[in-house]
Amino acid sequence: MATLIKNGIIVSTADEFKGDILIENGKITTIGINLENHTDDIVNASGMYVLPGGIDQHTHFSFTYKNAKVRGFETSNAAAIGGTTTVIDFVNQKPGKGIVESVKEYDKNEVSNVAMVDYSFHGIVFEATNEIFEEIPTLPKEGIPTLKLFMAYKGFPYHCDDEAVFRALKASKDSGVTIMVHAENADVIDVLQKECLKKGLTDPYYHAVSRPPLVEVEATQRAINLARLADAPLYVVHVSAKEAMEAIRDANISGSSIYGETCTHYLILDTDNLAKPNFEGAKYVCSPALRSIEHRESLWKGVKKGWLNAISSDHCGFDWKVQKNMGKDDFTSIPNGAPGLQNRLGILWTFGVETGKISRQKLVDLFSTAPAKINGIDYVKGHIGIGYDADIVIYNPNTKNIISVENSLQGVDYSPYEGMTQIGNVEKVFLRGELIVDAGKYIGKVGDGKFVKGKPFGLCYEDIK
Ligand code: URP
Ligand code: ZN
Ligand code: ZN
Repeated sequence: MATLIKNGIIVSTADEFKGDILIENGKITTIGINLENHTDDIVNASGMYVLPGGIDQHTHFSFTYKNAKVRGFETSNAAAIGGTTTVIDFVNQKPGKGIVESVKEYDKNEVSNVAMVDYSFHGIVFEATNEIFEEIPTLPKEGIPTLKLFMAYKGFPYHCDDEAVFRALKASKDSGVTIMVHAENADVIDVLQKECLKKGLTDPYYHAVSRPPLVEVEATQRAINLARLADAPLYVVHVSAKEAMEAIRDANISGSSIYGETCTHYLILDTDNLAKPNFEGAKYVCSPALRSIEHRESLWKGVKKGWLNAISSDHCGFDWKVQKNMGKDDFTSIPNGAPGLQNRLGILWTFGVETGKISRQKLVDLFSTAPAKINGIDYVKGHIGIGYDADIVIYNPNTKNIISVENSLQGVDYSPYEGMTQIGNVEKVFLRGELIVDAGKYIGKVGDGKFVKGKPFGLCYEDIK
């Protein structure tokens, strides 16, 4: 089966040109200008941009917060219509089980039968036992070269202390595992949360008051120092504070292998969203908290300059009406996290490319190429090149659309971006050569997403290898 995509503007991290792409048996086999029509399956991409399928390296299809559980992989068609063809999902360690066993069980029971895009996994440490540290060097042979620890969330089963972070870092480096941290000072947050509640300050807005930028900055600096002490690379997820980003940048410039990402919502939302009346602010409760506009603008500068390497959604599908409502009288009980998997490309295009904040080349890097490298899947994903999987997005830049929960496949009862105008839209998406989105509609098959093995020694090891 062959498909020829003709006359689109093909964008890579380096350049763009008007050309054709021949897809055969799920792979890109030829790229050129005026390729001969060897097939009847011809897609006219004239006037459109042709991008590598997005890689969202930070999704939570199984996260739990107190008694609430997010929507799962049965909503992964939302990724497809948003131009994301691979998700890298964080997998909870199950009680009494190892990381690999937890991932395999999750894949078998909750992912492989329903995934509608390709997927890979990061482990999450819940029980920081000797067995887990011994297991870390074995993760790469299972195709799981990344592991996350939560420095935040005191009192939750997934909270990890400094000893756990340090031991994980020490255990990771020889085998090329990348340790990822959620960097916030859990103890300080706990004190500030209790102070707010004692004063009767229970609204969603106090989520941000109890998690000021400095709790993120302090934990980021601490994690960087732990990585230096362990002589290991470190990846900091969902960076939202300017000074946390600067700490990562400065550590990297001074020779440490410290990297980080930010997320879509930190680039276009801010603390005013949390202050919305009638409990609407709960829709924006995520951690780290949304910041002021000053932080937001510095993050745009940081992604443009390469101080942060990727933009993820941190997709976390909790409903507002029931699940977020658990925190109606106590913001600390509002499940943390917001949906956004479907909107990453539209938002980056609209608020990044169209405003001149980032180039199309930079967008491709942040959206697809860099996450592929960070997670060791760049041998098949993240680039339109010969021999790569034919994961391709055709983006029409000439439309205007209102983002709304009405058009969402995320399975959640709200969108944090409700009412925003998006410029352009995802017209078609190919997953390994199969057309899975046509005219913006998902037309793929449930369960067609495949596991992609991650290789160790990803981007964070580039100066060490
Ligand atoms: O608030 C967030 N980000 N929820 C998802 C879990 C996490 O902390 O990454
Ligand atoms: Zn986190
Ligand atoms: Zn997250």
